[in-house]
Amino acid sequence: MTSRVPPNSSLEYWTDITDINTAKERILPNCPFGPSKHLLEIVRILSLGDRVLDFGCGIGRNITTLKSFGFNVVGYDLPNMIKLCKELVNNIDLFDKWNIVKKYNYDFIFCGLVLQHIPLFALQEYLLDFQTMSKHMIVYGRVSSDHFTDKLVYDVIRESGWSLNRILQAVPCWDNKIEDHEMILWEKN
Ligand SMILES: C[S@@+](CC[C@H](N)C(=O)[O-])C[C@H]1O[C@@H](n2cnc3c(N)ncnc32)[C@H](O)[C@@H]1O
Repeated sequence: MTSRVPPNSSLEYWTDITDINTAKERILPNCPFGPSKHLLEIVRILSLGDRVLDFGCGIGRNITTLKSFGFNVVGYDLPNMIKLCKELVNNIDLFDKWNIVKKYNYDFIFCGLVLQHIPLFALQEYLLDFQTMSKHMIVYGRVSSDHFTDKLVYDVIRESGWSLNRILQAVPCWDNKIEDHEMILWEKN
């Protein structure tokens, strides 16, 4: 299995990013930086005007493209990432306070390359909150976690009250194929 981000990347791996170049390198190491090709597949599932939360939006690689397709997008990430994202993205609501983001409802929550980086207890809490926020979740990411080895990220998603609706086409975004990334549409039980 090939993994681009060092396994066991800590929270600090993300929170100590203070400039856009470092953010780009850590988000997509050794890769050209740009919107995910997966958005084309995601667009087929959403309807115009859908309210979408880009959870762990980073510096906004996908958020502007999602908006340009006609979705009502909101971004959430850690404070340092949202600060950088605001330098690059205009006219989109970006939040770094989960207590605010979780009060609202969304047609879809999109998690791109993020859940595998979140420690187990924090991940479980987010996934339970997602249940009160949306009926649908699209998760693109690595099947194995940086933080636990006794189960897969998708086991935690299932245990948190989500059912697999369907596996979506995951277009490899790097030259060398990443074997252990999947994109899945989940629905609330
Ligand atoms: C590989 S990057 C993906 C960023 C973006 N989704 C993209 O595809 O460009 C992982 C993101 O997860 C965020 N992240 C890591 N731990 C997090 C946490 N506990 N809560 C929210 N976001 C977190 C990081 O700040 C980072 O922006």
